[in-house]
Amino acid sequence: MAKKHILIVPGDGIGQEVTAVGKKVLDKIAARFNHEFTYDEALIGHVAIEATGDPLPAESLEKMKNSDAVLFGAVGHPKYDNDPSAKVRPEQGLLKMRKELGLYANLRPIKLFDELLGASSIKPEILKGADILFFRELTGDIYFGEKGRKNNGDTAYDVAEYSRYEVQRIGRKAFEAAKTRRKKLVSVDKANVLESSRLWREEIQKLALEYPDIEVEYQFVDATAMILIKEPTRFDVVVTANLFGDILTDEASQIAGSMGMLASASIGDGTGVYEPIHGSAHDITGKGLANPMASVLSAALLLDISFGLKEESEAIISAIDQVLKKGFRTRDIADKTTDPSMILGTDAIGEEILKLL
Ligand code: IPM
Ligand code: MN
Repeated sequence: MAKKHILIVPGDGIGQEVTAVGKKVLDKIAARFNHEFTYDEALIGHVAIEATGDPLPAESLEKMKNSDAVLFGAVGHPKYDNDPSAKVRPEQGLLKMRKELGLYANLRPIKLFDELLGASSIKPEILKGADILFFRELTGDIYFGEKGRKNNGDTAYDVAEYSRYEVQRIGRKAFEAAKTRRKKLVSVDKANVLESSRLWREEIQKLALEYPDIEVEYQFVDATAMILIKEPTRFDVVVTANLFGDILTDEASQIAGSMGMLASASIGDGTGVYEPIHGSAHDITGKGLANPMASVLSAALLLDISFGLKEESEAIISAIDQVLKKGFRTRDIADKTTDPSMILGTDAIGEEILKLL
């Protein structure tokens, strides 16, 4: 029996709706496998700014540090997207959380459930068998380097920066993961142009000497963007910098049919944070349309990685698989062949998942 304290951080937009389903699934797992999970909630993002003026209030950070894992929703609000001059922004809360919790490794597994072969915009014969694990570095790069304005504000800059140590620790995690999978690692950079990428490649090459049984391929990010769509089955584990990883994983989400299916784990020095890769999606917020499966799969990653509860994690994945096999869909993963009566909203598809647990 595991006794764990889980912090639910719904954040903004559909984050609220999808984490509610994720939490119900965790509850169901606790009941079925005889664990004791306790919960608390904390604010981040736009809702935190509204309540306190701060996108990551000290109280939220404290709660995160004192919990065994965090189930996270999303942050963002359209109000800031077209207001580049806003000084306080929801995303600052997310970035500060990543930095403060030392979450340097963001794992984004891209795997297509068989039933969704037709839901992707990519041809089924290209997609079949695709199974990729991305390691996106999460606390360095252009996201966290010096930024500012000069020339009376007429020029702006963001510095992309990596230390050897930062590359080594994410690189090692990726090599270790490759050992347990198909033993292939693709390291993605832009070493033909960027100095930070040349240091990245040097460090990955050094690590490769320690892992002679892993086949390593080095790609430039522009080529990776192309090969992901052309030949997604060529990838097993991919390791890359923060910004490249952000962009490539949105692209790769199409391999899994929809962003609504993709979970991620952010891990590092302390508490792990588990969240969908999708954003706050204000266009569908409050309508009960959001696909909660990315949050439910995030809960599965949480159980596996932070608590070591493999069987419980697999029970969740299998429940989702069965729901899809029964033909249930949310709007984002439905296609022309879907019977409209099988297209369910957030809570209804959540109930189907719970039934199978
Ligand atoms: C993500 C998001 C964030 C990022 C945004 C919301 C700051 O796109 O988690 O992928 O760029 O890292
Ligand atoms: Mn992103």
